[in-house]
Amino acid sequence: MNSQQRIKELIDLRAEAKLGGGEKRIDSQHAKGKYTARERIEILLDEGSFEEFDMFVKHRCREFGMEKQQYLSDGVVTGHGTIDGRVVYVFAQDFTVFGGSLSETFANKICKLMDQAMKVGAPVIGINDSGGARIQEGVRSLAGYAEIFERNILASGVIPQLSAIFGPCAGGAVYSPALTDFIIMSEKSSYMFVTGPKVAKAVTGEDISIEDLGGAQVHGTKSGVSHIIAKDEEEGLLLIRKLLSYLPQNNLEDPPIIECKDPIDRMDDALNEIIPENANKPYDIKDVIYSVVDINEFFEIHRNYAKNIVIGFARFNGMPVGIVANQPEYLAGVLDIKASRKAARFVRFCDAFNIPVVTFVDVPGFLPGSHQEYEGIIIHGAKLLFAYGEATVPKVTVTLRKSYGGAHDVMSSKQLRGDINYAWPTAEIAVMGAKGAIEILEGRNISKIEQDEEKAKYIAEKEDEYTNKFANPYEAARYGYIDDVIEPRNTRFRIIRALQTLATKKDSNPPKKHSNIPL
Ligand code: HXC
Repeated sequence: MNSQQRIKELIDLRAEAKLGGGEKRIDSQHAKGKYTARERIEILLDEGSFEEFDMFVKHRCREFGMEKQQYLSDGVVTGHGTIDGRVVYVFAQDFTVFGGSLSETFANKICKLMDQAMKVGAPVIGINDSGGARIQEGVRSLAGYAEIFERNILASGVIPQLSAIFGPCAGGAVYSPALTDFIIMSEKSSYMFVTGPKVAKAVTGEDISIEDLGGAQVHGTKSGVSHIIAKDEEEGLLLIRKLLSYLPQNNLEDPPIIECKDPIDRMDDALNEIIPENANKPYDIKDVIYSVVDINEFFEIHRNYAKNIVIGFARFNGMPVGIVANQPEYLAGVLDIKASRKAARFVRFCDAFNIPVVTFVDVPGFLPGSHQEYEGIIIHGAKLLFAYGEATVPKVTVTLRKSYGGAHDVMSSKQLRGDINYAWPTAEIAVMGAKGAIEILEGRNISKIEQDEEKAKYIAEKEDEYTNKFANPYEAARYGYIDDVIEPRNTRFRIIRALQTLATKKDSNPPKKHSNIPL
């Protein structure tokens, strides 16, 4: 072969690899409304930036006549490219080759990519669309999964790991995405479960559809397995790009600061009026968040899961922050098991990647009742407490209204190493609300009053007395638990000043192998 023939051979091999499992299977993928692995990578990355690895890899299976069925790339496309000019590593499972099922060589390709991403210190994005373990390869496939799991674990907290689910993801295959930082699912075409509907029917008798068992809606609202639900693949890939814009490349870097065109001292008079006169009336905490952050842009995570707490990324003066906020509009912003777990994991992510945490507090307490107690609210609530207490990133807290009891301590309080804790004049920082407190403190006296009208008057008087004494920010400020009481309309400026001051903050935890967070 002369050199021209050799070059032609290379071009032909590349063209063959790009066809994956062949045109027919590509057509079938498109007919399902799905993109192919390489099309997905193209949408995800900066134009022309993708460098593919291991295009010439073929599987080594010799059972079940597999030696006669060989496809270049072996069902997974791997390589690196850039997003907004920053390096990322990507793998995309190719459903057109053996249903994207995972072989020994397929796993080797992903592991090789992850090893390099760790050395370079760049995020890994996995696009999942697979029938699971390649059945013909048996235990070699299981071993391949475990090799990937181990790398997911070692990379956790070192480089950001993002998973997109754009097709089936079932059996043990779900655990690699579950070990990563964020899972993005596309509506309609994606599903995740440990055991499918048929096994569920056989073992428990439950009759359930694929969508109801593990579709995007289920994981975005009920289980919380998925952090972001996209209306389609294209939106999912663009959301991954957006999400990465808030994150550093690795745990040794700071998150990327961008130029801020929004004045840092922009005031919003509406905030002075946002808290209703009646303490039991709700308002939307997202109105506060949108008002104070740069250009009113908030990237919400877990939008429809545990809506009583709101989490997500935003910027202040161009600096990325993680936001955690109780949502009075949903279950009065109470902390329950789901909300505690949701926020705890987010705070730990931010802490691992040097992203400051800004917390907005309006919390009536923990949700009471046997259901929560039997499900272990003690342990789950402790997760959030632990996450805040362990975090060493800058922590700025603004208490807007209620901050009662244990929930007060949990929500980034001063004693959990909260750095700068502000309160609005409407804040009520106390052991509990006036109604509950007076029932306990005055129960004996109240029961002695026979006349209803007199009883009501006495209770109202006592509640008023309690409110004046305790349901305000000044009692806590008197002890220095609140650093300053601020005018609501000036909140943006005060948060930015706090974050600027804390930019060089250094804090650490005692040396240890690892902590023992209440799991
Ligand atoms: C080998 C597979 C495969 C697999 C699909 N294919 N799954 N090949 N191993 N696991 C092949 C099919 O033979 C077919 O080949 C092509 O991929 C497309 O599959 P279809 O069934 O035609 O597609 P569709 O109707 O869309 O159904 C997709 C599917 C179904 C729901 C994923 O294929 C399926 O149920 N597959 C098996 C899933 C499974 O049980 N996997 C093992 C789970 S256990 P042709 O040549 O016709 O194109 C597991 C353990 C992991 O994963 C443990 C890790 C710790």
